[in-house]
Amino acid sequence: MSECDLVVLRDADAVAAEAACRLRDAACRAIEAEGRFLLGLAGGTTPARLYELLAGGGWNEQLPWERTLIFWSDERCVPPAHPDSNFGLAERILLRHVDVPPRQVHRMRGELGAVAGAAAYTETLDTEVGPAGLDLVLLGVGADGHTASLFPGTSAGDGDSQRHRRAAPAAAPDGSPRITLTLRELNAACEVLFLVTGEGKREVMATICGPGNSTSPGLPAGRVRPARPPTWLIDRPAAAGLRS
Ligand code: 6PG
Repeated sequence: MSECDLVVLRDADAVAAEAACRLRDAACRAIEAEGRFLLGLAGGTTPARLYELLAGGGWNEQLPWERTLIFWSDERCVPPAHPDSNFGLAERILLRHVDVPPRQVHRMRGELGAVAGAAAYTETLDTEVGPAGLDLVLLGVGADGHTASLFPGTSAGDGDSQRHRRAAPAAAPDGSPRITLTLRELNAACEVLFLVTGEGKREVMATICGPGNSTSPGLPAGRVRPARPPTWLIDRPAAAGLRS
């Protein structure tokens, strides 16, 4: 078991609001320390509420977008305009509405394919991030316990090759090719924030979360263990199966 910070919130909107505040605080810390904020966006649909919140309601002024560099936890090997693209979702809901300079948005180029796209992203991380990790990575969890595109039962994403040590080729259970940050890269992040909402995540959260504030390493999401224990923002429906 490993320590984590489990925060149960009323509903998905409360999860988005809490995540926005924590994202702002992480940005302030990073810019004070390094003059820039290296943010990794999650894939999937859960972050959409957070993206909508950040795109409106005065958040544009609260976040230092002009000093923020945007990265992704993973991507499907589709063109950026494809409805399944994680970049496309964030671009439509958030990035076109805030003042982040386009040159600071570093999407995974899924159109290159998983192997070449992962190698290219490893180079992008070396160039744009340097040897340290990202300041904050947002992650979701699949009902099978995957996170980013690190799926149960595969070693893809372990970052065991030099060419793919920071981003690696992967495949979803249906075989569709993916690019993912490696577990090594996720664990190098200063901070990891999981966003988990909905009844559909009840069972997997009960499996991942052990007694007290701890997670088990049996599933990929439970193996994300950066130096600073990850924070899990979970709404009540997803937390319904947690042991007290
Ligand atoms: C992806 C994601 C993936 C996602 C989970 C949860 O590209 O699919 O990176 O890890 O976070 O599958 O997805 P939902 O938020 O849609 O439930």
